Amino acid sequence: MQLILLGPPGAGKGTQAARIGAEFKIPPISTGDMFREAIKKQTPLGEQVERYMKAGELVPDELVLGIVRERLAAPDTAQGFLLDGFPRTVPQAVALDQHLTEKGQALTAVINIEVDPEILVARLSGRRICQDCGEVYHVVTKREQKPGVCDRCQGPLIQREDDYEATVRNRLAVYARQTAPLIAYYRETGLLMTVDGAQSIDDVYQAIVTGIRQRVG
Ligand code: AP5
Ligand code: MG
Repeated sequence: MQLILLGPPGAGKGTQAARIGAEFKIPPISTGDMFREAIKKQTPLGEQVERYMKAGELVPDELVLGIVRERLAAPDTAQGFLLDGFPRTVPQAVALDQHLTEKGQALTAVINIEVDPEILVARLSGRRICQDCGEVYHVVTKREQKPGVCDRCQGPLIQREDDYEATVRNRLAVYARQTAPLIAYYRETGLLMTVDGAQSIDDVYQAIVTGIRQRVG
C-alpha cells in the first residue's frame, strides 16, 4: 500500500501518519522529520537545509529527491509506505511517479487533509514535539502527562523553530503557492481522497481508515 498524506502545515499529517502507518503496517516517512534529524546531527545535508526550514521556505527539489530516493530504497518499504510532507511540488510528484513506475509500484491513495488557515496558526503555535522521538503534542488539545516530558520516551518537549507565528504564516503562503497545485494534480489521477481535518484527532483517523478500506476493498 503506497499512501501520500497531503495538507497544509498543521493539518495533522504527522499526528495521523504515526497511527495510519501502525494500522496498515507500513512505515511513515516524513521528509520534515528527516531534515530535522539531519540538522540535529549536524550532517552536511542538515547544514544545507537549515536556512530554508528556519525561514519556512521549501528545501530545493534536488536535495529532497536525494533523501527520498535513498529512503524508498530501504527494505522496509517493500510492502509500501506512507509519505508525510512529500511530494510538495509538482516536480517532486512527477519524480515520485517515475520512481514508482521503475519499482513496479503504484499509489493506492492520496489523502488530502483540509483545515481552515486560522485553525492552523493556533495549532502550530501550540505544538510541542519530543526532541528525542518526535512524538507530537499540543498545549491545549494533546497534553503530555508530566509537564515538558514525552509520555512515550521521557524525552524533553520543545517548540519547533518554524512554529513562531510569522514563520507559520510564511509556510502557509508557501503551501498555497507551491503545494496546493498538487490537489488538482492528484484529483486528475482519481486517487485523491479529501478528509475534514478540523474534526477531532480520532474522527480524522477514522475517516482516513474508512476511506482507505473502501479503496482497497
Ligand atoms: P514538515 O515537517 O513536513 O512540516 P509541515 O508540512 O509544515 O507540517 P507540520 O509538521 O507543521 O504539520 P502536520 O500536518 O504534520 O501537523 P501535526 O500532526 O504536527 O516540513 C517542515 C519544513 O521542512 C518545510 O517548511 C520545508 O522547509 C522542509 N520540507 C519538508 N518536506 C519538504 C519537501 N517535500 N519539499 C521541500 N521542503 C520540504 O499537528 C499540528 C498540531 O496540531 C499538533 O500540535 C497536533 O497535536 C495538533 N493537531 C493535529 N490534529 C489535530 C486535530 N484533529 N484537532 C486538534 N489538534 C490537532
Ligand atoms: Mg509534520
